[in-house]
Amino acid sequence: MSTTRVLTGITTTGTPHLGNYVGAIRPAIAASQDPAVEAYLFLADYHALIKNQNPEEVAQSSREIAATWLALGLDPHQAYFYRQSDIPEITELSWVLTCSAAKGLMNRAHAYKAAVQANETAGDDPDFGITMGLFSYPILMAADILIFNAHKVPVGRDQIQHVEMARDIAQRFNHHYGETFTLPEAVVDDHVAVLQGLDGRKMSKSYGNTIPLFGTPKQLQKSINKIKTNLLEPGEPKDPEDSTVFQVWCAFADASERDRMAQAFAEGIGWGEAKKQLFERVNDELAPARGEYDRLMADPAELEGILQSGADRLRSKSAALLEKVRHAVGLRAYR
Ligand code: TRP
Repeated sequence: MSTTRVLTGITTTGTPHLGNYVGAIRPAIAASQDPAVEAYLFLADYHALIKNQNPEEVAQSSREIAATWLALGLDPHQAYFYRQSDIPEITELSWVLTCSAAKGLMNRAHAYKAAVQANETAGDDPDFGITMGLFSYPILMAADILIFNAHKVPVGRDQIQHVEMARDIAQRFNHHYGETFTLPEAVVDDHVAVLQGLDGRKMSKSYGNTIPLFGTPKQLQKSINKIKTNLLEPGEPKDPEDSTVFQVWCAFADASERDRMAQAFAEGIGWGEAKKQLFERVNDELAPARGEYDRLMADPAELEGILQSGADRLRSKSAALLEKVRHAVGLRAYR
């Protein structure tokens, strides 16, 4: 039986929030438990440098995100869990790919184009604040994917183009140098909820509307109390469909709890009461993981050990692939 290699990266910026949990972490951990897949989950810490040049924040975020995934149940024996920067073959491959990837392809990347557009709108030089890291971002991402010959790459919609670029880059390489890389495919899960934030827009760090995953219960309760609602009083029927409280509830509730809450809305549950129940539901789901998170954050040596052993288990694969690539392009031992 051939296994499917499923790979995805997590850029290590910011502190994990409920939107990350519902939209990415929970489904990825569930998928990693499928015995028919070989799961690769990694911390894209070199990608983080493109967005953040504050060393303390970069280090802290990497540690928080590693602890978050493990605390929420990622089993590092079942999935490969590693840091991009611990696999030097990724960045070596990135350079080789840079030498055959078309610049014109990179010019078309949405993230780069958006940055240029923002500069033009602001009347700045089009290149203002744009690093070569941002421009070449899709090539490093291609190397992440191709180094382990991943078949499937689960991503959010905003990343589909990057996976398609990885495929283009691989195809071009294979065509010129001979069959070397598996052509990867993006997978987007339409069933995964996009969680709304405090203001009703998509929960996102850039909107400042997030609910942090592992604050204290008090902090969680305070955040939930800040969810924007309308001015209807207790006793007045409320429409669940335009309520963020209900939307977040559904991300944590099963079908019968969902129906019960919809009924409560129809019967005019007060916002205070609905938020109290939401807090209890979310807190029940997160409480066990919170304890484990705190433990891991207090024990950096254990975290470090887990990530090192993830990298150790993979280095023979990455080294073999890179050797094949070097040979293909003509970087060969003289003997
Ligand atoms: N660019 C992705 C993001 O910001 C993270 C990432 C880096 C990634 N390398 C990857 C995702 C490889 C999938 C495969 O979300």
